Amino acid sequence: MATAERLRLGVNIDHVATVRNARGGACPDPLRAAKLAEAAGADGITAHLREDRRHISDADIDGLMAVLSVPLNFEMAATGEMQEIALRHRPHAVCIVPEKREERTTEGGLDVLREELRLGRFIEPLRAAGCRVSLFIAADRRQIEAAQRIGAKVVELHTGAYCDAHAEGDLATRDRELAALREMSALAHSLGLEVHAGHGLSYDTVQPLAVLPELRELNIGHFLIGEAIFRGLGPAIAEMRRLMDAARHG
Ligand code: PXP
Repeated sequence: MATAERLRLGVNIDHVATVRNARGGACPDPLRAAKLAEAAGADGITAHLREDRRHISDADIDGLMAVLSVPLNFEMAATGEMQEIALRHRPHAVCIVPEKREERTTEGGLDVLREELRLGRFIEPLRAAGCRVSLFIAADRRQIEAAQRIGAKVVELHTGAYCDAHAEGDLATRDRELAALREMSALAHSLGLEVHAGHGLSYDTVQPLAVLPELRELNIGHFLIGEAIFRGLGPAIAEMRRLMDAARHG
């Protein structure tokens, strides 16, 4: 059993860019949101440069690299174009996610097992460049073991199914998903992987995860940017931090 170290909060600012892009122009500015998030206690900023640039742009990544004091977690698909951008910037962390143009958000995790050889080769230069490579996967034993085999430092476990079941009031599924996240966090940790989690988390769903001692980082975006409309970004993040700390340390 791991001792519960401080649980980091990575704030995903993609949807500030979504709102900006709805009108074109420059506001709201994701860089301003990132600096506010830093001031509110975010331990890192996460941004996903999608192939279709539907939210974060190349210029946003340039700007984030220039202005951030906390680490940037650069989310990207395993494509040559994205690898080249990551190698140019050398962000602190790179999180490889599956990406389909037609999806509304990142649905499901990477199939590391099926793509073991290709992904292993793909992450090699990123690791050599000093980026902490993370793979976004389902809480599935075979995917975790494959991630370890190809040399990933981190796995980020997909919490979408747990959060969806909670939202739908399907408590049996929610509890089954939570149990899988609990067991697979322990397994990944025992294999020497750093364990992160994210997708769809809110004030209502964060605490059962925050108590898991093997988890080192949660990445949360959509809910926080939505909540910022009502209480402001700083207070929205501070409340998430408070709930995480309360669950973890009582
Ligand atoms: N972690 C990963 C790997 C993601 O792809 C996303 C969504 O971009 C998140 C965390 C954050 O999810 P949400 O915006 O639903 O909080």
